[in-house]
Amino acid sequence: MTKETILITGASGQIGTVLTEELRKRYGSDAILQTDIRLPEERQGHFEVLDVLDAGQLTRLIRKYHVRQVYHLAAILSAKGEKNPKWAWEINMAGLFNILEAAREFGIRVFFPSSIAVFGGMTPRVNTPQYAVLQPETVYGISKVAGENWCQYFYQKYGVDVRSVRYPGIISYQSMPGGGTTDYAVEIYHNAVKGEPYTCFLEANTRLPMMYMPDAIRATLELMEAPAASVKIRSSYNLAGMSFTPAEVAAEIKKHIPGFQATYEADFRQNIAASWPESIDDGSAREDWGWQPEYGLEEMTADMLAHLKEYYQVALM
Ligand code: SER
Repeated sequence: MTKETILITGASGQIGTVLTEELRKRYGSDAILQTDIRLPEERQGHFEVLDVLDAGQLTRLIRKYHVRQVYHLAAILSAKGEKNPKWAWEINMAGLFNILEAAREFGIRVFFPSSIAVFGGMTPRVNTPQYAVLQPETVYGISKVAGENWCQYFYQKYGVDVRSVRYPGIISYQSMPGGGTTDYAVEIYHNAVKGEPYTCFLEANTRLPMMYMPDAIRATLELMEAPAASVKIRSSYNLAGMSFTPAEVAAEIKKHIPGFQATYEADFRQNIAASWPESIDDGSAREDWGWQPEYGLEEMTADMLAHLKEYYQVALM
């Protein structure tokens, strides 16, 4: 290959699946290299196995495909990380380090996804500011705070063009999340369309920042395509879409599927959610690179249900 390419780690994950599609549309299938820890059964375009802990394989792929940009999405999320903190720390931190070192060596632009999980109980929960206390209560959050700081360090010290947003919970119909605290907000739609009740693992009134996938992808690409001078924050940008509770999303679904029923049985993820913000002030992203979300709960619910209905091929009542 002689063409310059964009490498995605975690390409089979919730965001990776959809981001790959969008990048293909923009730059052509040939310009995109998907990587993940294992090969998926069905795949299109270039796909290579990459364990992000394997710096040697990363370097080989960068040389082979002339990689110019990396979207480093491979990570262990909040809930899963709590089951095995050391393993989560290793993958999230050593993985990022390998990417940053390679970026420095090969002059690669990097996207690093951070998260609302960087905040903790000491942070103001409503309209959480860009610059707030960062004392997270999960290993995932700790790894994201450290990651943000390493990104800024590599930018300041070595000029690595690294860009990052703090994603809220992401809701999508194309792909399932894996191991997060906000996963309920995807699962609930699937159950509703299948005509099944849903037992939520968070309490009914747990308000969290969320975002529909099209907004998340657009934010990511707008940031990555912004002129370098307008990317003033090189740790990570606060990013907001909407905020809602499980009860609110259930009520919105009921407008379309009146028979839908949600019940609530909180587990250990409730404590994680309780340490996170309810809403986010993303003024810096709006000011620096023009961020503007499009989807609220109403529009997202209509769109999610329409797509999932098609997917399950069932008739909504
Ligand atoms: N959706 C993620 C999680 O719940 C937050 O970044 O872990």
